[in-house]
Amino acid sequence: MSSRRLVVVNAGLSNPSSTRLLADRLAADVVEAVAGQGDLLEVTVLDVRDLAADIANSATSGFGVGQVQDALDAVYRADALIVATPVFNASYSGLFKSFFDLVEVDRMAGKPVLIAATGGSARHSLMLDYAMRPLFSYLRAVVMPTGVYAASADWSGSTGDTAMLSDRIRRAASELALSIGSVGAASGTKHSAASRIHVDAAESDGISNFAKLLGS
Ligand SMILES: Cc1cc2nc3c(=O)[nH]c(=O)nc-3n(C[C@H](O)[C@H](O)[C@H](O)COP(=O)(O)O)c2cc1C
Repeated sequence: MSSRRLVVVNAGLSNPSSTRLLADRLAADVVEAVAGQGDLLEVTVLDVRDLAADIANSATSGFGVGQVQDALDAVYRADALIVATPVFNASYSGLFKSFFDLVEVDRMAGKPVLIAATGGSARHSLMLDYAMRPLFSYLRAVVMPTGVYAASADWSGSTGDTAMLSDRIRRAASELALSIGSVGAASGTKHSAASRIHVDAAESDGISNFAKLLGS
């Protein structure tokens, strides 16, 4: 059994924060999925609201001020990341972007990243794909195919579909867990036949769905 590091970057500002809640749900599912693969996961959560003043001072001074350098070091040491932001004016929050503006680009290369966001409205769910995904692609991270967006209604059993949100969380978490597992496989960690069968099934599902789309 090997141990890996998951870092959660939460840019939610409220207390309690729905973005933090989403990030915690994702992290819990990743921990469970990675345990199923026979690995341990050490989870560190960075609430960027606690670093707000240090982030601004780091941006103007050009070096990591206060707790920011520790936070950046945690990001660099991570085997995988969950990054979560509220939607502000149709994009990620300024504080979220300011934190990742401090990251050295080369040190994000190849890291598996699960993107997540919350918003008041479901209408801004594509923010994951027009804002977050390009940002982390630019940083040369490996962005998971499934991003998770939760609108206010998704948390409410009466108006939203909480089961669908749970399904999206589970799918995204299993993708990140598989990425963490494949890093382990490349470095010699053994994986169970069960987890291999799961990958094969996921891959063949994807291929048959794509074939259906093409009409074959
Ligand atoms: C300044 C500001 C701008 C916002 N802009 C949007 C928006 O464009 N689209 C949207 O769906 N929600 C918008 N919201 C709502 C937040 O995204 C939503 O309440 C979010 O879940 C809050 O996250 P938190 O609970 O983690 O702080 C905005 C909220 C604030 C404060």
